Amino acid sequence: MESFIYYNPTKILFGRGKEEEIGEVLKGDKVKRVLFLYGRESIKKMGLYKKVVFALKNAGIEYIEHGGVKPNPLLSHTIEGIRKAKEAKVEAILGVGGGSVVDEAKAIALGVKVGEDNLWSYFRHEKEIEEALPVYDILTLAATGTEMNGNAVITHDETKEKLYISSPLLCPRVSILNPELTYSVPKEYQAYATVDVIAHLIELYFSAEYCPTLQARFIESLIKTVMETTEAILQNPTDYEARAEFMWASTLALNGLAQIGFKGGGFPNHLIAHAIGGLYDLPHGACLSLVIPAWMLWYKDKNLKQFERFAKEIFGKRQAEEGITSLKKWFQKIGSPVSFKEVGLDEKALNEIAQMVEQTAPVWGLERIYDYHTTTQILRFTLDES
Ligand code: NZQ
Ligand code: ZN
Repeated sequence: MESFIYYNPTKILFGRGKEEEIGEVLKGDKVKRVLFLYGRESIKKMGLYKKVVFALKNAGIEYIEHGGVKPNPLLSHTIEGIRKAKEAKVEAILGVGGGSVVDEAKAIALGVKVGEDNLWSYFRHEKEIEEALPVYDILTLAATGTEMNGNAVITHDETKEKLYISSPLLCPRVSILNPELTYSVPKEYQAYATVDVIAHLIELYFSAEYCPTLQARFIESLIKTVMETTEAILQNPTDYEARAEFMWASTLALNGLAQIGFKGGGFPNHLIAHAIGGLYDLPHGACLSLVIPAWMLWYKDKNLKQFERFAKEIFGKRQAEEGITSLKKWFQKIGSPVSFKEVGLDEKALNEIAQMVEQTAPVWGLERIYDYHTTTQILRFTLDES
């Protein structure tokens, strides 16, 4: 194993009814005024909005609302939130929703400290994050791992760059995870969530020069759990056990534990998927299922043994290529796209994406490999798929 430091300050409250404790949680941390962030309609439809308001009022917490966060959250909406938060002098940000809401909550938490005009330079990794307001969340969609990591992803309205920030200072203080709150996630978003979790698990597993056996086994166990529970959830959306195991697996996939002890490697599938998501506003998991099988085909000979291991452990197959085909078929089966055609993208889009990848790769430390030429080579596998 390579040397590492592991630090994760987020407290998790997991289980039925835990969202009712949000008022007391904030009060316990001496927070008196929060910016209450949410998405478009889901939390109102599912009755969660009322519950949160009730819990906040009961605990005497003042709140200022900032609704309307959209999937692939935008810098402009984040800036509006920063202005509201500053004007009301809030002491913390509370995000109630999926990854997009929690990510925007983190970006606002930073923006309040550094000013809305400076915020984007942090996404371009030109500045170090040194302070942020505390973030709290109630998660309604298990996918991104944002509930227990320090990452946030925002899209620039004009340039369409979709970039991330990352710092332990942005890890939520407390994240509330009630699997029942994910019962209403639409099937297509469940599929995208599943692809995202698998993506978080396989990025280093395949791309690192060295993967410790313990980490490989941990990752394979999580992938199997995610695949089994996804099938159960798609059959029966209110299967508590399946929802609970899926939810915790998605947290473990990107809270740092699955990324420990590797040598080298990176997140190339995410680099390319973010270029697609930013340019065409497609769901993150859908972008990933377009990229992953293509990237795997392109990359497999650089780490053949690991690809064979994956084929055997996950699908009981011998050849690396059989593992890739099986994963791609499974993505199709659960309802996530695997070809450009399915999402209306063409050759012109491929060129735009490749340009965006080349432009944003330095932020990911991947500019030496993922230039325009390489990206077009990879994505051609997806474009040619009919
Ligand atoms: O807008 P509302 O009405 O709330 O609807 C949302 C949205 O339309 C809906 N939804 C959420 N919970 C629901 C629900 N609908 C019914 N019932 C519920 N319980 O689902 C839709 C998608 O929500 P979103 O938050 O966008 O999905 P997700 O959690 O997948 O987050 C995706 C964002 O996170 C970023 C992605 O790039 C993308 O911008 N990521 C963040 C990461 C991180 N912070 O570590 C890592 C990831 O790799 C990823 O990049
Ligand atoms: Zn992801």
